[in-house]
Amino acid sequence: MPTTHIPVLLDEAITHLNPKAGEHYIDCTLGGGGHAEEILNKTSPQGKLLAIDLDEEAIKICRQKLDQQRVIFIQENFSKIKQIYNEHFSLFKVNGILLDLGISSIELESEDRGFSFQIDGPLDMRFDKRQQLTAAEIVNKWTFNKLKRVIQEYGQESGRVASEVTKNIINARHRSPITKTKILVGAVLLAFRNILKTNKEIPWIGGSHPATRTFQALRIAVNDELNNLKKVLPQAMEILEPGGRLAVIAFHSLEDKIVKDYFRSEAKDCVCPPEIPVCRCGHKRQLKIITKKPVTPGEREIVANSRARSAKLRVAEKI
Ligand SMILES: C[S@@+](CC[C@H](N)C(=O)[O-])C[C@H]1O[C@@H](n2cnc3c(N)ncnc32)[C@H](O)[C@@H]1O
Repeated sequence: MPTTHIPVLLDEAITHLNPKAGEHYIDCTLGGGGHAEEILNKTSPQGKLLAIDLDEEAIKICRQKLDQQRVIFIQENFSKIKQIYNEHFSLFKVNGILLDLGISSIELESEDRGFSFQIDGPLDMRFDKRQQLTAAEIVNKWTFNKLKRVIQEYGQESGRVASEVTKNIINARHRSPITKTKILVGAVLLAFRNILKTNKEIPWIGGSHPATRTFQALRIAVNDELNNLKKVLPQAMEILEPGGRLAVIAFHSLEDKIVKDYFRSEAKDCVCPPEIPVCRCGHKRQLKIITKKPVTPGEREIVANSRARSAKLRVAEKI
């Protein structure tokens, strides 16, 4: 099993969070612990870290690598951050919170997790193995319309591509249950051959493998990633001390939009619809946007780590 993940936008995230000696932080997405390690270095020797991840492997790896005395490890969903904080970290004032969304390379490259279309494995894709819903369940049980919607919305495929891919998945599952990633890849490739009217084994489109988006869409659906993000943002703001910062690294435009919209609406006092002349909502601004535009990786980082390509960092400060 791979045990490394190169942290994305590490310097940029740390510079914006600006952790100092003795401060306390929450890393909602521990992964391989790259960001966590740097936060611990900067908050040394007294600062504490609440380290959360859904994945028991991430927690296991980081328990061995990070200072046990200064880290509280919790295998939970960050969508429950307020409850986790109240139960495990409420003695500490929180100066910063990090969300580095999506999947780690450790998960992606694990043969038994089913996240990668390049590795044949069980069609699983759960961050948390205690969860019931797997990618196999979605692919084999969900209706045409539900499956198509996932591929179209989360995979951001056109309606035509989503329909054709779904049709081929349904044809394949009628023959026998789709339990392995390789079978799913086969169904997606067939769909693309039909659309592009080609016999090429892999009909490459725009530099990415045709199965990329379907796999990404299924992962987002299995782990309910967009809803978890919507739930965590207001709770994170509540937990932060005034002056504390929330940094979010997103890899998908739908995730980035959720963060952008949330920051924008919480950075202003009134959020009434424009047609209402006098404010009725009574909403009060609770944050200052630090990154007017998202911070993206430089050429050098992208060359060294192609995973960084689509990363966008947004940071807000609680007022
Ligand atoms: C991109 S990786 C984080 C990498 C980490 N910053 C590092 O430096 O190694 C994202 C991690 O978030 C975890 N994760 C995703 N969604 C989660 C959720 N809702 N709650 C808790 N952890 C989650 C994944 O299991 C994965 O380990």
